[in-house]
Amino acid sequence: MSSASTRAIYPSLRDKRILVTGGASGIGEGLVEAFVAQGARVAFCDIADEPAQSLVARLSPGAAHPPLYRRCDLTDVEAVRALVAEAETALGGLDVLVNNAGNDDRHKLDEVTPAYWDDRMAVNLRHLFFAAQAAVPAMRRAGGGVILNFGSISWHLGLKDMPLYQTAKAAIEGMTRALARDLGRDGIRVSAIVPGNVQTPRQERWYTPEGEAELVASQCLDGRIQPSDVAALVLFLASDDARMCTGHNYFIDAGWR
Ligand SMILES: NC(=O)c1ccc[n+]([C@@H]2O[C@H](COP(=O)([O-])OP(=O)(O)OC[C@H]3O[C@@H](n4cnc5c(N)ncnc54)[C@H](O)[C@@H]3O)[C@@H](O)[C@H]2O)c1
Repeated sequence: MSSASTRAIYPSLRDKRILVTGGASGIGEGLVEAFVAQGARVAFCDIADEPAQSLVARLSPGAAHPPLYRRCDLTDVEAVRALVAEAETALGGLDVLVNNAGNDDRHKLDEVTPAYWDDRMAVNLRHLFFAAQAAVPAMRRAGGGVILNFGSISWHLGLKDMPLYQTAKAAIEGMTRALARDLGRDGIRVSAIVPGNVQTPRQERWYTPEGEAELVASQCLDGRIQPSDVAALVLFLASDDARMCTGHNYFIDAGWR
């Protein structure tokens, strides 16, 4: 595994203005940490105040720009719009939106009601669109930008017991292609990140040690994917080095199939 001292630094990310959704834990926490280490100006939202505040306390000492935390329930579209506006003001502009937040609660097909459908689409799909819509004017003012949407390998593999999560995640890839086409002439790049199974505290809940061993056996590579591995891909796509990358999905899955 690469250590912090051997990881790439992107000069183009220094002072960039970044908004990460769901940044308090798991992959989002890794993203906030990685962008702060690049000297970027980072704002993040979540509904989990305590881990968010601990993260700010952990990353602030020595940071070129300590990260800013704002509580926002992303299922509320008006709150999403207010979040993006507030982030633009607090950061002095907006260059990168990372639509990371999601929720992979398991559910049985037979038990899905219309209300549960709406709830799952609200937490896994709708806010990505409305955050992007709100961010676009700010990115146009900045002369361009990057929107990165978190998909999932789950529907590519057809995993069990989460049909609505997979429906939303499949839609995110379609939305990514559509937005990339609509926004390309504004200099706004839109890509999707497709993680395999990333070892986060929440994922540890779903997997027994035997399940984890099976999972690794299905990957081409040994070992578990860490949030920092996902962050490495996100940093590249957010940086100017990826200036001609848009409209596609980027897998980080250790070759899981
Ligand atoms: N971990 C994996 O193996 C994996 C695999 C494929 C895709 N993904 C995707 O990667 C992204 C991050 O996943 P993760 O594993 O870090 O999840 P996680 O549950 O560890 O973190 C998600 C964060 O989003 C926050 N959040 C949830 N609902 C919210 C809401 N309504 N408003 C604001 N914040 C909210 C949570 O509090 C949490 O801090 C998600 O989009 C997930 O679907 C993860």
